[in-house]
Amino acid sequence: KQDVLVRGQILHYLTDPGPGDDPAAWEYFDDGALWIVDGHVQSVGPWAVVTANLAPQVREAASFHDHRGKLVLPGLVDTHIHYPQAGVIGSFGRQLLDWLNDYTFPAEARFADYSEAERSAAFVVDRLLAHGTTTASVFATVHAHSVDAFFSAAEAKGLRMLCGKVLMDRHCPDNLRDSAASGRADSQALIERWHGRGRLGYSLTPRFAPTSTREQLQATGELFQARPDLHLQTHLAENPAEIAWVQALFPERSSYLDVYAHYGLLGPRSIYGHCIHLSPAERADMAAAGAAAAFCPTSNLFLGSGFFDYAASTAAGMRVGLATDVGGGTSFSLIRTLGQAYAISQTHATPLSPMRGWYLATLGGARALYLEAHIGNFQPGHEADFVVLDWAATPELAWRMDRTQTLAERLFALMILGDERCVVATHVMGERV
Ligand code: GUN
Ligand code: FE
Repeated sequence: KQDVLVRGQILHYLTDPGPGDDPAAWEYFDDGALWIVDGHVQSVGPWAVVTANLAPQVREAASFHDHRGKLVLPGLVDTHIHYPQAGVIGSFGRQLLDWLNDYTFPAEARFADYSEAERSAAFVVDRLLAHGTTTASVFATVHAHSVDAFFSAAEAKGLRMLCGKVLMDRHCPDNLRDSAASGRADSQALIERWHGRGRLGYSLTPRFAPTSTREQLQATGELFQARPDLHLQTHLAENPAEIAWVQALFPERSSYLDVYAHYGLLGPRSIYGHCIHLSPAERADMAAAGAAAAFCPTSNLFLGSGFFDYAASTAAGMRVGLATDVGGGTSFSLIRTLGQAYAISQTHATPLSPMRGWYLATLGGARALYLEAHIGNFQPGHEADFVVLDWAATPELAWRMDRTQTLAERLFALMILGDERCVVATHVMGERV
C-alpha cells in the first residue's frame, strides 16, 4: 500500500471534552499533516513538524492530498442504521408501531429476494461514503442472506462495519418471522462466515423486546454472554406505546431495560437505539454495564418519538453515539443529524456545544461501539479513515464563515448549516474512495 500524506486543518479528539469543553480533549492543527503508512496513522501534527521527519524520497513516493483550508476529521461513525430501510425514508404520517407495520415490514419483506438485498447494500455503502460515514452499526433484515449482501459490499470497500441478522419470532408478518432455533443457527453460521473477517464484526440483532419470544431472547443472551467479542444491537424506550406494550408483554420485569438485562442482553458492546424515555435508574444501569445509547435525533423527531436527553445520559456515565436511524431517520448525513442533535439538546436547556458535537460524531461513536482501539481519532496505529469537509460549501456557509472568529464558532456554523455538500473527500485506510 502506498504511503499517504495529507495537508489540511486537522481536528481530532483524545477524549470527551465533557459539558465544560475541556480543551485538553482535542488537538487542532490549522496547518496540519497526517502521515499514513500501510493504511494506518503514523503521525499527526503541524505540517512543519511532521514533514521535517520524512526523508525526501519517502515523501516523493507518497500519495499527496492537499486539503489546505479544508477540515480533516476522522471518519464519521453512525451507531444505528437499517440498511434495508433506504427506500422507506420519508414515509408519511405514522408513529413507530404503525410505521413498522405499514411501511417498514413490507419493505424488509422484499429482501427475501437476494438481488434486492445486493442492490440496497451497494446503494447504502455508496451513500454512507458520500456522506462521510466510514463505520456504522447496521441492522439487516430477518433473512440471513441480507447480512451476506451487506458485508460483501462493505468488504469490497475495505470498511470497518458491524452488522447482524434481525431476530424476530413473534408479532410480525409471517414472511419476516424466524424462530428461536433458526435465528440462533442462522446467527451462528453468519458469525462463522463473517465475524473478524478483515474489518467486519458481527452484531447480534434482536429487533426489540416485543418481536422476540422469551425463548429467542434467552438464546440470544446465552450466545452474547458466551462470546464477549460480539456486539449486540436492539431498540430501547423509543415510543410511549412501545413501552406500554413491553410492560404488558413482560409484566414480571421491572422496566424495559430489565427485560434485556434479565435475558443477558445488557453489557459492554450492547448498543440500544433511542433510549429516550429512560428513568435515572435505567441510565445508571446502562452506564454500569458499559452499554451504549444511539442518539437518533432526526428519527426521533420524524416519528414523533421524543427528545433524547444527551446531557443527562452522559452525566449518568452512559456511552452515547450519534446515529441516523435511516429509514426512521431522514438523512444519511451525520452533519445534518448533528444539527438536529443540537436542536433537541436545546429542549433540555443544555445546548450541545460544537466541540462536543464533533466528538460525538467521531470518537464518541467509536467509543459507543467499543472500536476506539481501531478508529475514531488519529492516534498513531489507528486505521486511517477520514473525511474532508469544505467549510464554505454553500453561499450561506461562506457568508457565515466570513463573520466568525473562533474555531468553535466555525465548527458550530458547520454543524448547523453543513450537510453532505460539505463532503469533499472520504478516505478509507488512507485511500480516497
Ligand atoms: N423498533 C423496532 N424496529 C424498529 C425500526 O426498524 N426502526 C425504529 N426506529 N425503531 C424500531
Ligand atoms: Fe432503528
